Amino acid sequence: MANDQDNKLWGGRFTESTDAFVEAFTASVQFDRRLATHDIAGSIAHAKMLAKVGVITTEESRAIIEGLGDILADIEMGQFEWSIALEDVHMNIEAKLTEKIGSVGKKLHTGRSRNDQVATDIRLYLRQEIDTVCLQITELQKTLLQQAKQENDTIMPGFTHLQTAQPVTFGHHMMAWFEMLQRDYERFQDCRKRVNKMPLGAAALAGTTFPIDRVYTAQILEFDEPCLNSLDAVSDRDFAIEFSAAASILMMHFSRFSEELVLWASAQFNFVDIPDRFCTGSSIMPQKKNPDVPELVRGKSARVMGSLTTLLTLMKSQPLAYNKDNQEDKEPLFDTIDTIQGCLRAYNGMMPALKPNRDIMKKAAFQGYSTATDLADYLVKKGIPFRDAHEVVGKSVAYGIEQNKDLSELSLPEIRHFCDKIEQDVFEVLTLDGSVKARDHLGGTAPRQVLIAIENAQRALAKR
Ligand code: ARG
Repeated sequence: MANDQDNKLWGGRFTESTDAFVEAFTASVQFDRRLATHDIAGSIAHAKMLAKVGVITTEESRAIIEGLGDILADIEMGQFEWSIALEDVHMNIEAKLTEKIGSVGKKLHTGRSRNDQVATDIRLYLRQEIDTVCLQITELQKTLLQQAKQENDTIMPGFTHLQTAQPVTFGHHMMAWFEMLQRDYERFQDCRKRVNKMPLGAAALAGTTFPIDRVYTAQILEFDEPCLNSLDAVSDRDFAIEFSAAASILMMHFSRFSEELVLWASAQFNFVDIPDRFCTGSSIMPQKKNPDVPELVRGKSARVMGSLTTLLTLMKSQPLAYNKDNQEDKEPLFDTIDTIQGCLRAYNGMMPALKPNRDIMKKAAFQGYSTATDLADYLVKKGIPFRDAHEVVGKSVAYGIEQNKDLSELSLPEIRHFCDKIEQDVFEVLTLDGSVKARDHLGGTAPRQVLIAIENAQRALAKR
């Protein structure tokens, strides 16, 4: 047999060469070489296990492990030549091993298949990237706690329908972001549990005839346990879908943070200053300072959500067990990881330097009759049913708009005109500080409560 198939690790049953286009079309090494270090770690563990159960000798195992170590060093130094003809990361490394150590290298693939190999590689890789993402989220949460502490009594307007609703504190707002990230963190941690199971040993789909010790291999690779069904182990990518879902939710949150920052940084709001180094200018309008970083993060949420759809659609209707379709799982997954890590990095740089404009936010809170609910609550405490109080306050606000005055700027006789139960003490509840201070319960915006929330959060983070 003298055709090109001689190079192929699976060439035995073939009588003609692979079509040149098909060779490139079916190859994945262009992108799956990213898995190389994990592929080698998996192979080393597999070789140790094969020796432990006596399928290969200790010397053979040692030679294989040494050869793999050399290959790893080559890859790390950028001295490894990847070949499309060898299709994927697995066969590139295996072929190089045999080239380096001779025919003993050919024993490595005993009792396994690329199907359980690739599933293992992705899980090892994803586990590592989840840990990085979780560290990045924690860092951002710490920054938010710091901002919240500094600004725990900084007044800003709180919005519903993007209309001024009630005054809140900037610290409280930062703690809302913190809570969103807290759930993201928990989602990634939870997803990690299902990622951290080992497919190796499932071989192509049915297991292997060799007396393998999967628990031993799993221990070496620090998996919680082996996957319990060989067909399922090689075929499902639900763990990657789950990761993508967690990533999409994180990006949904990021798109909301970003939307707020873009609004707040506009000349019309001017609630915050985003440092120059996180903005760019316009090539035509010299006055512009554009909040590119939050805008781009908002935009990048699209591709992460798109990748979730890609992975779901990829897996939909696939029969058991492995299908080549699954080679398509990698690019969306890699892109998702790069994107969320990039966004986290950008926010980790930007958020510590974000400057709230306290006076402007306070003025804005003062402008939209944000203490109207406080007046209604005041009347309720004077014995008026809430619905009637609502009516009284509505009329007072209409009068204020007509007079161009905030509720707190009306005189006592003016405001008593709408309800004679109102007395001098009303002005305490109509101030912005009085308003936030009064929401003094678990989860409320009172600065005292915000500080308690920060302390609790700090304690929780210290345990990570
Ligand atoms: N490159 C393949 C993938 O990413 C590896 C597994 C190939 N298995 C096979 N039987 N062709 O899924």
